[in-house]
Amino acid sequence: MENRDAKLIEDILRLKRQRKAIILAHNYQLGEVQDIADFVGDSLELSQNAAKTNADVIVFCGVHFMAETASILCPDKIVLLPDMHAGCPMADMITAERLRERKREAHKAAVVCYVNSPAEVKAESDICCTSANAIKVIESLDGEEVLFVPDQYLGHYISTKTNKRIILWPGFCPTHMRIRPEMIMEVKQDHPQAKVVVHPECRPEVIAVADEVLGTGGMCKYARREEIEELIVGTEIGIIHRLRKENPGKKFLPVSEQVVCPRMKLITLESILWSLQEMKPEVKVPEEIRIKAKSAINKMLALV
Ligand code: 13P
Ligand code: SF4
Repeated sequence: MENRDAKLIEDILRLKRQRKAIILAHNYQLGEVQDIADFVGDSLELSQNAAKTNADVIVFCGVHFMAETASILCPDKIVLLPDMHAGCPMADMITAERLRERKREAHKAAVVCYVNSPAEVKAESDICCTSANAIKVIESLDGEEVLFVPDQYLGHYISTKTNKRIILWPGFCPTHMRIRPEMIMEVKQDHPQAKVVVHPECRPEVIAVADEVLGTGGMCKYARREEIEELIVGTEIGIIHRLRKENPGKKFLPVSEQVVCPRMKLITLESILWSLQEMKPEVKVPEEIRIKAKSAINKMLALV
């Protein structure tokens, strides 16, 4: 570790104690950010952790919708997102107004929103889900028709696993869109024994060549299995740091070094330190929206 990083980390940890803060980091964060976090996890685990922490301040190292979810669950805490530009492009592919229009046309359908959505969209939804529990959430519904927003690919994947009729929204993740089946086959050529795991945000033709389709938390669990020695990983590159750290001796092969979520990478040790010094940027969801969005999130959390 460079001296500069060591000093930054020392300052962050000192301020963290002074502010009674907790640092939560998503599995896609930079390795040095993951290493200083109190908890590293997937979207579901991060919201569960936010809900149960007794810290005064949550420093959220992830993207905007994740910090919003923490603010929805913990209105009395200060939720800091070290860089306000760290938004998820998929979450920006839907607005509450456009969803209200679509709901009028599909009025019989239950609305399930992927957690990668703005708080206002959650407030318009019946229930929320993450990649870790999407099928369970859909199966828990009474009706046969579901309007699934905003990820068309996760929605399509779910439709292959349930008998319910899924109406899709045309959103997608630009990072997972970069993954092509040929890229996986190329890595596989040199590593024929390797298993292939991909995120359900991937295109159907990518899912078709995978051994397992899992969210990031599921991937971390899968990698710990005894029989896994070599794993081709079809998701954002940041998870490779955690997989290697937790499984020394096993081989983790990214499908490409270019599968990067640039917004996730805006969070750095520097921005975390500034955020703790200035106590901003703060993410706070207006109360009227928060109450409605909380109901959709809590229905999901109650199912886990
Ligand atoms: P996970 O919930 O699987 O961590 O996914 C979050 C995400 O943004 C995937 O692109
Ligand atoms: Fe959003 Fe994709 Fe980045 Fe996940 S990887 S935060 S879905 S843009």
